[in-house]
Amino acid sequence: MNRTRRLRKSENIRRLVRENQLTIDDLIYPLFIEEGENIETEIVSMPGIKRFSLDTISKELDEVVSLDIPAVLLFGIPAEKDDKGTETWNKDGIIQQAIRFIKKNYPSLYVITDVCFCEYTSHGHCGIIHDNDVDNDATLVNIAKQSISHAKAGADMIAPSGMMDGTIAMVREALDNTGFVDLPIMAYSVKYSSAYYGPFRDAADSAPSFGDRRTYQMDSANRDEAMREATFDDEEGADILMVKPALSYLDIVRDLKNNFDRPIACYNVSGEYAMIKAAAEKGWIDGEKVMMETLLSMKRAGADIIITYFAKEVAKILKTK
Ligand code: PBG
Ligand code: ZN
Repeated sequence: MNRTRRLRKSENIRRLVRENQLTIDDLIYPLFIEEGENIETEIVSMPGIKRFSLDTISKELDEVVSLDIPAVLLFGIPAEKDDKGTETWNKDGIIQQAIRFIKKNYPSLYVITDVCFCEYTSHGHCGIIHDNDVDNDATLVNIAKQSISHAKAGADMIAPSGMMDGTIAMVREALDNTGFVDLPIMAYSVKYSSAYYGPFRDAADSAPSFGDRRTYQMDSANRDEAMREATFDDEEGADILMVKPALSYLDIVRDLKNNFDRPIACYNVSGEYAMIKAAAEKGWIDGEKVMMETLLSMKRAGADIIITYFAKEVAKILKTK
């Protein structure tokens, strides 16, 4: 008789046949950096995650480096917003300052920047508004400006998240024309319009003031369309393809893994983090175990890279293993 239980008898044999592993090397840690001084504000719906200003962020960065987390993903919260998000390409904007600060003081840390406008626009949408909707092609021009500005400040990788068509081609060309031919792009290729972003929008102060993002972010019902999105980004020269959110979209992670010869990233988003934290706080689940199981499921689905607010906690556990 075939008995699958033979290989489950002890931890040693389970270790030998284990197919997937979560490692510190897989992790990217998102950081919220706010313009101003002396800011260290805990985000209510994301326990353990704070917004920092540049004068308070060092102890967070010390910890990230000492835990050997390879990379951070930066989100900026500017002091001033306007209808176009012009602060995003200010060479002394909060993100540009943050990139320079981190590269100078933590040169070993890999710095990825989120390229979008929703934290910087007065209306909270991911681009320029015309006729009550985001104007794709007008926004592309500004995405290029923002990307070049991040590159000039010293970013190691650019991650455009706005879901405008043609973004990757535009950013690749802009970077190549300014001499940044070696700067990679991580594309938010398959980004769904999702209620799981709720806590992030509080954290980054980026909720749209009217309407929603359904004219540019994907419909959660669609799977074939995800292949189309990823195909365009692949053809346009994205170096890494990302799926976001992660947990409810693991089928898409696997689709991309099977169909593209690029590293696949997934974004374990704010709502996924909040659900585990909240249930654990209530004592309804073992938060640490559910966290590890959840992140492992992303590896099993095919993710090479996981962007997660759990990165520090996971690294602590994996370090002592
Ligand atoms: C901005 C952006 C969002 C997230 C990352 N970049 C939110 C949104 O589209 O409203 C979500 C991250 C999270 O929920 O953790 N375009
Ligand atoms: Zn946005």
